[in-house]
Amino acid sequence: MIYPIVLFGDPVLRTPTKEIVKGELDTKKLAEEMYQTMYNAHGVGLAAPQIGMSLRMFVIDGSAMDEDIEEAKIAFINPQIIEEEGEEWAFEEGCLSIPSIREDVFRKPKITIRYFDEDWNEKEETFDGIVARIIQHEYDHIEGVLFTDYVSPLKKRLLKGKLTQISKGKVDVTYRVRVPAKK
Ligand code: NI
Repeated sequence: MIYPIVLFGDPVLRTPTKEIVKGELDTKKLAEEMYQTMYNAHGVGLAAPQIGMSLRMFVIDGSAMDEDIEEAKIAFINPQIIEEEGEEWAFEEGCLSIPSIREDVFRKPKITIRYFDEDWNEKEETFDGIVARIIQHEYDHIEGVLFTDYVSPLKKRLLKGKLTQISKGKVDVTYRVRVPAKK
């Protein structure tokens, strides 16, 4: 099943998510559906809040951005970033929930993360470069943080109109979206 993607302005994107209890849902099936939804939208990462589920889970596949990435397709359940290291670097990020906006975000280049995969194997791994970047972006989603939160106050003012349009569903995308309810 391909889910519609929740757009900026929906409170679910701002709500810190809850941990998944093993056995309460079919994580393998959910991971598969999240991959389908992500690929359908040509994304490289997708977090559960973006399909309206306030759960501590996201999937990534960075191979579209760099074909040298091995083990590109990973599902993260109940992840915890343990360490972030190195000197912050800028990279222009975008988000399926905030279409047509791209902004430079500074993040550390190397992370160590503990998580369960969709089969509930516990893992602890270190990632760097673009994969670390995608994980940091998705990890923010499950904490209720969006990449636009990091831009300067001036940039934020400049983006305000665009963000309002997005929250009203005025977007030009090829995937199905869920428009936030009117306040
Ligand atoms: Ni995003």
